[in-house]
This record gives sequence, structure tokens and C-alpha cells, in this order.
Amino acid sequence: MLALLAFLYFQRFFQCESSSIITTVENPDAKCRNERQIYLSYEVFRSDACARCYKYMPLVAFRFKLQYTKELGTLYDPRLNDTHYVDPLKISENILNTFSEESFAKKWISCCRAAWDCCDTMIKAHTLFKDTMYCPRTWDGWQCWPDTQAGIMADLPCQEHIYFENGPPSCTKYAHKECLPNGTWYRNENMREWTNYTTCGKREEHRQYLYFHIATHIISIIFIVPALTVFLAYKQLQVPRITMHKNFFLSLLFKSLFSVLFKSIVIADELKRTENYESIMTKNGAGCKILFILTKYFRMTNFMWMFCEGFYLQKLIAATFAEQRNLIMFYIIGWALPVVPVGIYATLRAILEDDK
Ligand SMILES: *[C@@H]1O[C@H](CO)[C@@H](O)[C@H](O)[C@H]1NC(C)=O
Ligand SMILES: *[C@@H]1O[C@H](CO)[C@@H](O)[C@H](O)[C@H]1NC(C)=O
Ligand SMILES: *[C@@H]1O[C@H](CO)[C@@H](O)[C@H](O)[C@H]1NC(C)=O
Repeated sequence: MLALLAFLYFQRFFQCESSSIITTVENPDAKCRNERQIYLSYEVFRSDACARCYKYMPLVAFRFKLQYTKELGTLYDPRLNDTHYVDPLKISENILNTFSEESFAKKWISCCRAAWDCCDTMIKAHTLFKDTMYCPRTWDGWQCWPDTQAGIMADLPCQEHIYFENGPPSCTKYAHKECLPNGTWYRNENMREWTNYTTCGKREEHRQYLYFHIATHIISIIFIVPALTVFLAYKQLQVPRITMHKNFFLSLLFKSLFSVLFKSIVIADELKRTENYESIMTKNGAGCKILFILTKYFRMTNFMWMFCEGFYLQKLIAATFAEQRNLIMFYIIGWALPVVPVGIYATLRAILEDDK
């Protein structure tokens, strides 16, 4: 059994090794096409695509982002007035150090690998189209597209390295690249070849969760309001036991109310975010922070009032005939105590992590 496992492990190991390292192609003049519609030799393509993978990564991935230059395959460091040539076989520490986290560096390397493999495939694959018009095989900056018949919308699974701020979605999604009837790839308004990656996003998934959450909070509110009204309307119910319930329900009501507000204002707005649209969360204004802290506060009061209810019952059992008249202590535990942890949280966030 152990031998079998060892065998499987090493087989995997060697497979991975062979696919990533021993991929030198004999013909140095072989040309690979990139998203700028230019054909580069194997070596140059490899470095340049890797440098462009870097260029396309969002700013969150970097501590300091180097600049892509006109010189193919190089990144410029304005701090040192230094130019780094990107060699995917031997990536310089200076470049790796510009990433804010190792995971981003890994994504970048995985993009470089994909470009490299893409160039291999472009060189080796035979074309299926002899007489018909087709769009040429190409690298699009993120992933590789094969020859595609004119007038066809090509689909490929979205690559893992395109997901930066969170992991890939639970089910595979597809990117689209349109091959126009005249055998050219679709170009956007800037006349750049363009792949539609909007479908890769998890926006739909998030939107459904959002609606579900808002709906559940609204249902909560719909039931709490009549309950509170009954408690408040009847004179017979003005007793300490019910007062405890009233406060608990009130905290639940506020919790739901503020959750609905936060989700429908801030989160719904975040789902509209594009490159040109600055969302409320990106602006990170005082209003947004206050709303967020209030949702945290009212959530905390829920638990405190649950505790008060239990504590109150315990007191009743301990002294059955002495009904608790003085509820001040419960008010302090229920409404004032949550200020402490939430205040600490708010202060720490403001000092250490005052972004988004
Ligand atoms: C950067 O270095 C180059 C040569 O390495 C030099 O010609 C140029 O003047 C330098 N630029 C700055 C801003 O120091
Ligand atoms: C192909 O068609 C598109 C739009 O239909 C057009 O913009 C483009 O210029 C055409 N390309 C050629 C080479 O005819
Ligand atoms: C990209 O795909 C989405 C979803 O299919 C579509 O709604 C959108 O219009 C496409 N964008 C372009 C520019 O074709």
C-alpha cells in the first residue's frame, strides 16, 4: 500500500515537473501570438507575456507595483531607476518582493506558466481549418485560445489565477471570446482584442445570497413588529418579565433593521462596482463605517439580552417570591456592555486596518 502511494506520489511529481520545466521547443524562431496581435519568438513571448500578466494584476496584489515598459518583457522600478527583465525560469527576488502576499505572487507565476504552455501549444498544434475562415490561436493576457471558426463564440473555463480578491467560484464558469464572421477576434472600443470575462465573476452568486439575507431579515422584522406592539399595547403586560422580552425583541428588531440597511445600501452598491464606478465601500466614508459598527453593536446586544433573559430566570428561581423590580442592571448589561467590545473593535480597525 505504502509502495503504491509512493509510486503515485512520484509519478505525479514527475508529471508536474515534466510539464513545467522540460518544455523547451527546438525552433527558436517559432512565433506565438499575443493579445496585442503581434507575433513574438518563443523566448521573448515567454518573458513579455509574464510581464504583462504582472501589468494586468490589480493594485491590491502589490506592496509596490513596478511599471510595464515599452521594452518587451521588462518591468521598471522607479524607486531604484532599475529595469528588471522577467525570466520565468528564474524570477528575480526584486519582483517577488513587490507583491503584498505570497498568494498573489503564486497567481502571477501561474499566469506566466499558462502563457508559456500556451506558446508551446500554439507552436505544436496543427490547424483544423484549411479552407474556412478562422480566428488565429492566441494568448489573451490571461489564458490561451485555440483556432476558432469564424462566427463562433468560443468558451473556455475561467482560470484560477484570475480570481484575486477571493477564491474561484464553486462551479466552473466560462469566459467567452467572439470570433467575428470575417475571421477576426472581437475588439472593444479601444480597438483592443477583448475576451469577455464578466461571466467568470461570482457576482450572480453574491447577488442571490444578498437577496436571501435581506429577505430573511425582513421576515424577522415582519414578525417582531406585531409582537412588540402587543407587549406595548396591553396594560396587563407591563411587568418586569415582559419588559425583559420587550428589550430583547427591540434588540432583534434593530439588528434586522440595520442589517437590511447595510446590505441594501453598501453591499448592493458593491455588486455594481466596475473599474470606473467607485463604490461606497471603496470610498470608505464615515457614514459607511458608522452603519457597519452599528450592525455589529446591535448584533452584540442580541446576545447580551439573551444572557439577561437567562440571568433573570435564574434570579427568579433563586428567589421565587421576590419579583425583580429593579432592572437597571439588565439595561446596563443589555445595552451598555456591548459598547465595550464593539468600541475596542472599532478602535483597532481604525488604527490597524482602516481600509474597506
Ligand atoms: C536612470 O538611469 C539611466 C541609465 O541607467 C539614466 O540615463 C537616467 O538618467 C536615470 N534616470 C534618473 C531619473 O535618474
Ligand atoms: C471584421 O468585422 C469587424 C466588424 O464586423 C470590423 O470592425 C473589422 O474591421 C473587420 N475586419 C476586417 C479585417 O475586415
Ligand atoms: C459579456 O457577457 C455578458 C454575459 O453573457 C453580456 O451580458 C455582456 O453584454 C457581454 N459583453 C460584451 C461587451 O459583449
